[in-house]
Amino acid sequence: MSVKAFYQYLEFLKLAGIQDIFIKEPEPIVEAVEEGCVDKARILHDLSQKYANCQKCGLSQGRINLVYGQGNADAKLMLIGEGPGANENKTGQAFVGAAGELLDRQLHAIKLTRQEVYIANIVKCQPPYNRNPEANEVQACMPYLLEQIEIVAPQIILLLGRVPAHAILETTESISRLRLRRHLFREIPVYVTYHPAALLRDPKYRVPTWEDLQRVRDHYFSL
Ligand code: URA
Repeated sequence: MSVKAFYQYLEFLKLAGIQDIFIKEPEPIVEAVEEGCVDKARILHDLSQKYANCQKCGLSQGRINLVYGQGNADAKLMLIGEGPGANENKTGQAFVGAAGELLDRQLHAIKLTRQEVYIANIVKCQPPYNRNPEANEVQACMPYLLEQIEIVAPQIILLLGRVPAHAILETTESISRLRLRRHLFREIPVYVTYHPAALLRDPKYRVPTWEDLQRVRDHYFSL
């Protein structure tokens, strides 16, 4: 019997008039994580399964796989991208196409690997024709990301591109300005840089992105 079913059974006995049953509600996931009494990777995995058939917005219609996120559940650094593309939709893994290869090289350049960080996206299902996610889609998916942030509890967040920067920092300021300052999100230091796909399209973003990554690297290795 699952834990949930067991609690429901106890509730049922109480309702049936058996008074000597004292039910302590199970801890909400995030509290349990904070108390260090659960396996974060396991919880993230279970949540990804739970949301796999999400119907909260129209993006579910083009979904082959929900791309929940992946990496180290205890990561000090969390990267947040925009949303899955076609390769990610096919595989269920974040950043597996050309942008993903570049992201791997960028991480390597700052002495990190994909296995050390946690990678998530603003929306978990591919927008049609890779258009930007719409406000209602961002809003529908945001609770999943907030939950991931609470569970992983990173000490640094790096936002990759305009969509995550605007969604998380609730601004419409340009990346070229946002990247010049360090921000805070729920007391977590946040850096902003260009999306890897932008670098693939236009090499002019390479130098500023490298500057941003070096700031993230210095912060990370000072933790
Ligand atoms: N671009 C993103 O922002 N996220 C992915 O997972 C892949 C490409």
